[in-house]
Amino acid sequence: MKILITGTKGQVGHALTETLKDHQIIALTRQDCDLTNLDQIKQVIDRHQPDLIINPAAFTNVDQAEDQKDLAFRVNRDAPEVMAQKAREYNIPFVHFSTDYVFDGKKKGAYVESDQTNPLGVYGASKLAGEEAIKDLGGRYFIFRTSWVYSKIGRNFYLTIKRLCLEKDELSVVADQVGAPTSSDFIAKQMQNIIPKLNFTAPGIYHLVPNGRCSWYEFAKEVILEAKLEFDITKLLPIKTEDYPTKARRPLNSLLDNKSIKEAFMLKFDDWQSELKKI
Ligand SMILES: NC(=O)c1ccc[n+]([C@@H]2O[C@H](COP(=O)([O-])OP(=O)(O)OC[C@H]3O[C@@H](n4cnc5c(N)ncnc54)[C@H](OP(=O)(O)O)[C@@H]3O)[C@@H](O)[C@H]2O)c1
Repeated sequence: MKILITGTKGQVGHALTETLKDHQIIALTRQDCDLTNLDQIKQVIDRHQPDLIINPAAFTNVDQAEDQKDLAFRVNRDAPEVMAQKAREYNIPFVHFSTDYVFDGKKKGAYVESDQTNPLGVYGASKLAGEEAIKDLGGRYFIFRTSWVYSKIGRNFYLTIKRLCLEKDELSVVADQVGAPTSSDFIAKQMQNIIPKLNFTAPGIYHLVPNGRCSWYEFAKEVILEAKLEFDITKLLPIKTEDYPTKARRPLNSLLDNKSIKEAFMLKFDDWQSELKKI
């Protein structure tokens, strides 16, 4: 299958490119296709004529998005809308990634796909607008919401904790936000299983996260213990969100219920700790 993948220097885009090697991959970086240039997106798709478009590229800096609203909406709403239009024109599936940040985090328990959205910041709002634009077009779209993405490359919590452990004697980490850390390799391996089933599965929104839950504090602890870092674990201190102010507000509850995706695509997931061990 000829698969066009965007953002291949990003965490998910890179993992997909590495994992889906049995396919013919058109790997697009920002240099190959700038997602703020909607005409260029159309031209690139027309030129390559893919069988499937996967769009992991996004404006992902949650705090910067507060100051760059137009750019965030251009990349996270307008660009996927154009890709979805093109996918419809060619009658091919369109896979797009979205986020737990479309929710406000006030629910008790994990969010299911049909739960009311209510983003707290510009990033979440722009990702939600992207979801809605794709849904409104009504093609063969698959929107995979994921959370707390990390990998061995890029800018993420996992690498930040590993770095800070070498630099500092004491670390304070937020303990009142819960979610499921999701490795880019987990996403890519599941996509390998999902792709052959796209033609037989109902389009829509699905929650793609491993099993289990934790706080950022618990995630940090597991990273330190698992990587056997030389850091005194008693110096890892749990703090509250209010003690770690950020420009954008984050949901306290980022838990996504993954039952629907497992049933629809007949998948088996491990818990997040097992996925971390694989990294
Ligand atoms: N990271 C998370 O914690 C998280 C959580 C939930 C959902 N998600 C969603 O999961 C998906 C994948 O996220 P990720 O963590 O892999 O993101 P990432 O590592 O930040 O990668 C995003 C990619 O998008 C590219 N990009 C941004 N603006 C672009 C533009 N104007 N033109 C072309 N390319 C552009 C970036 O290019 P450069 O490399 O050139 O900058 C980068 O390669 C996204 O849809 C994101 O919203 C992420």
